[in-house]
Parts: sequence; C-alpha cells; structure tokens
Amino acid sequence: MMRTITSIAEWRRVRAELPASPRGIGFVPTMGNLHAGHRALLERARVESDVTVLSIFVNPTQFNDPRDLAVYPRTLPEDLALAAGLADYVFAPTPAEIYPDEYRFRVTETKLAQELEGAHRPGHFDGVLTVVLRLLHLVQPRRAYFGEKDWQQLQLVKDMTAAFFLPVEIVACATVREANGLALSSRNARLSAGARAAAGAFSEILRTSPDAATAAQRLTAAGFGVDYVDDRAGVRLGAIRIEGTRLIDNVPL
Ligand code: PAF
Repeated sequence: MMRTITSIAEWRRVRAELPASPRGIGFVPTMGNLHAGHRALLERARVESDVTVLSIFVNPTQFNDPRDLAVYPRTLPEDLALAAGLADYVFAPTPAEIYPDEYRFRVTETKLAQELEGAHRPGHFDGVLTVVLRLLHLVQPRRAYFGEKDWQQLQLVKDMTAAFFLPVEIVACATVREANGLALSSRNARLSAGARAAAGAFSEILRTSPDAATAAQRLTAAGFGVDYVDDRAGVRLGAIRIEGTRLIDNVPL
C-alpha cells in the first residue's frame, strides 16, 4: 500500500525504520503533473530497487519566471493515481519544509549551468541542484532516476553527486515520446492540439539536420521561436518556443 508523507519529521521516522536491503531505495524526484515519462522512471526504479520513493515537490527556486511557477499544474490526486502500484512512498513536502533557511544556502555550478538553459533561465540550475541535493540527503537512495530529455539537468546532477561524494547512482532513462516524436513534458499540456501536432517536427528537425545551424534555420522556417541549437558531447540540444511555451529536447548525434 503506497503511503503519502508530507512532513520531513514523519519521513525521517519512516526512513530510519527502513531496513538496509540488497537493492536499497530507488528514488524518482518530480514536480508532479506526472505523465508516461515519469511512469517509465518509476517502473525502472521499481524493477531495480527494494523500495521505491517518489517525491512530488513544485520547487519554487528553479522557476526564474514567477508566472511559470504560478501556472505550473498541481495535480496531486491524479499523480497519486498514476503512482499507485509503482511507488511505496510519495514524499510531498511544502516549500517551507524544504527551505527552512529561505534558500540562503544553495548550490551553484559555475560552468555548464551558466550555458544553454542556464543562459536563458538565470538561477534555474541553482534551484534544481539545491533541491536535488536536499532531497537526496533526506531520502538517502541507492539510485536516483532522471530523464534524458533534461540533458543538462542530468549532467549537472551527475557532476554534483560526484563533486560532493554522494553515495548514490544517477540513472539516466530514455526520453519517452508521443507518436509524432514530441518528447513528453508537463508543458505539452499548455499547447493547443495544432501546436502539439506541429511540435512533432522539433525532434525530427534536430535529428535530420546536418548541423546545428541548419537545424536552427529549419526550426525557424517551421514557425518556432528558436532559443538555441547546440551540438556537444554527442548530442544535439535544442530549445524552442511555440504558443508562448518553451520546449527543450535533445537527440543523439
Ligand atoms: O526534472 C524535474 O522535474 C525537476 O527539475 C526536479 C529534478 C524534480 C527538481 O525539482
């Protein structure tokens, strides 16, 4: 039976009583509004772990745009229904619980976090890394599962766990896509049916263009606002805007 816990004190009591086990805890951190991509993370965690913990926390510090935070969908009942049978514990704390210091202490990475998404969303990765560090300390998982769609987040979380000697394995999980190639994201719900269909061209263009500059031109010609297209570390990364919604994606080169 899945148990939902909202206070850190209660979670600490539960965590202290979980026995050491061969495969330990598999942890899936999320901001809720769960979709099939999150389900895939939970399914993998469940197969590889003795206990699966899902966190649902809309992290205010990673939103550089307050309007984005205000409209972020909070769908706890639906999220709990999706997680039932997959997670053993759902940890859903409040911002006051996670930030007793009012965010005086934070993690800043000074290179990769300043580029690409970081350049377009100042402070975003400070918020992501800080909350992930806090959650990893609280949950103490053996493994934590992250989607490859957020490539930069995944690299930064891996690098942070190495830099701070955290005893956790960061597991990268393949991007789940709609039939037209659109990567699943909570933001897709903001798109009209037409934009959702058109956004299928995003990954297609990233995949089939000979270089990043051509991909950017083709995306612009297809009607998207292009924030960047960048080839690095064996992947092509892109960020576009459609109907005022920002989408990111990446494909292997
Ligand atoms: O990818 C997300 O949903 C968030 O950035 C994360 C990792 C849960 C941190 O708030």
